[in-house]
Amino acid sequence: MSIQLLAQDTIGKIAAGEVVERPASVVKELIENSIDASATIIDIDIAGGGSERIRVSDNGSGITRSDLSLALQRHATSKLTRFDDLEALATLGFRGEALPSIAAVSRFEIRTGIAAESSGAVLRSPFGAEAEVEPVANPHGTTVTVEDLFGNVPARRRFLRQPGTEATYITRLISAYAGHRSDIAWSLTSDGRNSLTTKGSGDDAEAAVGINGTEIVDAVLPISSDSEAARVSGVEVSGWITAPRVSRSHRQNLFFFVNGRLIQHRSLMYALEEAYHSLLLIGRHPMGMVRIQVDPRQVDVNVHPTKAEVRFADERSVARAVQRAAHEALVSQSHDVLPEVTFERPQGPPSVSQTFFRGERQWTEGSATQDERLADVTGEQTSQEDDRTTPNGIAHRSGIPVLRVLGQVAASFIIAEGPGGMFLIDQHAAHERIMYEQILDQMERHDADRQPLLDPLVVDLAPHELAIAERSMDEMRTIGFDLELFGEQAILIRAIPAVIKRVDMKERIHSILEELADGGAGDTWLDSVAISAACHTSIRAGQALSLDEMRELVNQLERTRQPRACGHGRPTMLHMSQSELEKQFSRK
Ligand SMILES: Nc1ncnc2c1ncn2[C@@H]1O[C@H](COP(=O)(O)OP(=O)(O)OP(=O)(O)O)[C@@H](O)[C@H]1O
Ligand SMILES: [Mg+2]
Repeated sequence: MSIQLLAQDTIGKIAAGEVVERPASVVKELIENSIDASATIIDIDIAGGGSERIRVSDNGSGITRSDLSLALQRHATSKLTRFDDLEALATLGFRGEALPSIAAVSRFEIRTGIAAESSGAVLRSPFGAEAEVEPVANPHGTTVTVEDLFGNVPARRRFLRQPGTEATYITRLISAYAGHRSDIAWSLTSDGRNSLTTKGSGDDAEAAVGINGTEIVDAVLPISSDSEAARVSGVEVSGWITAPRVSRSHRQNLFFFVNGRLIQHRSLMYALEEAYHSLLLIGRHPMGMVRIQVDPRQVDVNVHPTKAEVRFADERSVARAVQRAAHEALVSQSHDVLPEVTFERPQGPPSVSQTFFRGERQWTEGSATQDERLADVTGEQTSQEDDRTTPNGIAHRSGIPVLRVLGQVAASFIIAEGPGGMFLIDQHAAHERIMYEQILDQMERHDADRQPLLDPLVVDLAPHELAIAERSMDEMRTIGFDLELFGEQAILIRAIPAVIKRVDMKERIHSILEELADGGAGDTWLDSVAISAACHTSIRAGQALSLDEMRELVNQLERTRQPRACGHGRPTMLHMSQSELEKQFSRK
């Protein structure tokens, strides 16, 4: 076949393939145009998951009648004149490709007007056909309607998912933008049902709750790079993340915006989750909206056909800034991390057994007093009321108050009293946290203390244990073991980390290797080995402890950096506030 120039409509359809992958991509381009036009109200209405109809209306600047015919021409934009302008781009659009691409694969209509003109204009283009601009009553703003998407590209249409799934993609997209641009009033209607509304007050937390529901109401932690500890030069971070008690099994409610642009960025996601280190259970992920501002010259936005990715000149600084901002938010709100126990109010006169521990654990901050929160965060003396309960209401820097040990329940849990109520501590999880941090501290000093065993231990291993042991040799040595392979199916242990006390190492080494064989719980193999070693060499449930031992344990827990969760992310303690106790005993 001889070389021929492609027909215009074929060029249009091919180009559209890059920009318009599915209904959600159309919505993204349209709302970005509305944002670029400084709209303060954006309404989105979809039918059939967007392939039947997408309509986006805004109250933005509008387009003059004379400009309108250009809007559907490829490479026509009001946002960029020279390539160098990309360096200081303030708008989301810059290619002048979105509208012509969408118009090439749909029945397209744009209706628009500007405040200074008495009448507006409408332009209709069925599947890319040229059309005349006609006058209409001035709508003040712009409404774009896209119907029968991919009606002329059946192959693309076949690749779309169920309408419900496509609608979910759109909802997720609008959730992201509505969270980010909390200063815009958003509404999304799908098949006539309203699925999302925000007020546009500019309050991030309010928008977050409007979008995600009241479940997260007490869990929204604002993040910011303003504080000394979180500052990284050249990067500004704002937005919010969820406290660890609200998490998801996926990352689809965690959004990153760079200079206003929704992007996907794996390393930023990992950087953020690092900040939660061990506060979230394995496989759980936070929700959030992370806004990043950098000098536009430090980021290349022109690296992806749908602008879903960017490239940073200094990615590590950006990742560091995200991590620090999240870390600060989590540390300063660490009270929130403490699960609160709320007891069900029993019907009728309660018996003791009925009242006690009948209730559900509720993961809300609930009735914790303001003073207590203050004490947690500032380490200052608590109020008079709390002083009554404990003379010494001073909290440690780690964020848990000084606790007075009262006793042990079921040889597994320590009961303690602190400012503002009762604390139940899981002795195993608590000790695991302590051990884990001690191991990490030793590792940081690059010289873990070892305790030599008087008689070196020979431990016979099953083949799968041996494989894991071989793989973990270096990491085990780093955390303080001195060990080597011994014959065909055993290891020889000459020394163990000094932090490990009074355990039957022969038995525990099997548990460590078993857990590691399951994949390990840490972000790195070294971390997994440290977590496992801490877990399987710490005090177990069912072990009776003396008061002194319990005091020592709680004392050490108070001094850890993350006292609320063990290395696996399980909680170390529950709290029942004094006011909750009073309520349960009908004193309030
Ligand atoms: N909702 C709107 N309100 C006001 N003007 C709009 C609106 N939508 C589009 N325009 C105008 O139409 C032009 C073309 O829009 P289009 O989305 O095709 O390109 P762009 O936004 O400039 O670049 P990109 O292809 O990167 O999105 C824009 O530059 C803008 O001037
Ligand atoms: Mg655009």
